[in-house]
Amino acid sequence: MDHFLDIEQLSVEQLEQCIQRALHFKRQKNYPTYADSNLAMLFYENSTRTRISFEMAAQHLSMPVIRLDPQSSSEQKGEHIQDTLSSLSAMGIQYFVIRHQENRLVHQLAAQSDPVTHLINAGDGSHAHPSQALLDMVTIVEEKPQLPRLKIAIVGNLRHSRVANSLQVMFKKMGVGELALIAPPIWQPETLHFGRYYQSMKEGIEDADVIVCLRIQKERLLENEGVDIESYQRDYMLTEQRISLAKPDLMIMHPGPVNRGIEIQSELVEHPRSFIRQQITNGVYARMAILESLIKEKRSL
Ligand code: CP
Repeated sequence: MDHFLDIEQLSVEQLEQCIQRALHFKRQKNYPTYADSNLAMLFYENSTRTRISFEMAAQHLSMPVIRLDPQSSSEQKGEHIQDTLSSLSAMGIQYFVIRHQENRLVHQLAAQSDPVTHLINAGDGSHAHPSQALLDMVTIVEEKPQLPRLKIAIVGNLRHSRVANSLQVMFKKMGVGELALIAPPIWQPETLHFGRYYQSMKEGIEDADVIVCLRIQKERLLENEGVDIESYQRDYMLTEQRISLAKPDLMIMHPGPVNRGIEIQSELVEHPRSFIRQQITNGVYARMAILESLIKEKRSL
């Protein structure tokens, strides 16, 4: 693979390889050195987990990291992002991690880029967040490797969630047994890649092995779509009472950032069945696996 843009582009073998490599990195703290490869970070949207974990992943692999601050870049003077990439490539930068608010912009950039430029999608609009789906899969495989036996539920704004889109494709490819997609009708997914839609939280999370709770983008969406926070909390917030409907060894997951007391009861974030912290830890190893697979692919050409 020349670029890491979405889960669709990856074969099951490539996904399995990345998952196992991430788990290997986690077990063995002895990392290979790729000091002749470098990485630029282009974040046009805010981020804590994705940005820092890609930087840490690159540091573990001895890759120099360059940060572009979009607010102080020449894009503020009208330069197109394509020309920014081209300029950085001319300076010798090979790998680019890009987060952008525009759906599929990173795909367009990849299609127009020169052969020595390799792009990694760190979240594009509401379209895809493939590195998040990979780190979530690493966390699930680490705890519950029997994927065909699992029932996984995803709860939240499925219509606008890049995480939910990438997870649907990931779960389908990896042979997860059952996927319940839970949301108020206005937020049901536009396209179903895999799984069944539930309006009822109770029906959707019954006997679930894993519940992925999505962040409610209250700053952008609630008012525009006529969904009020109180009714969302009443009908969909993950609570201690609700998780009793799922399996006793349930995994509670959330990609972050968390709105405590809105999509998830605050106490559940540190609950013994919460894997939210483990997801963040695994993000570093999953992103090391992504960077290494791109570097190895390039070297094999
Ligand atoms: N999950 C996730 O993408 O978090 P950040 O926005 O903090 O990177």
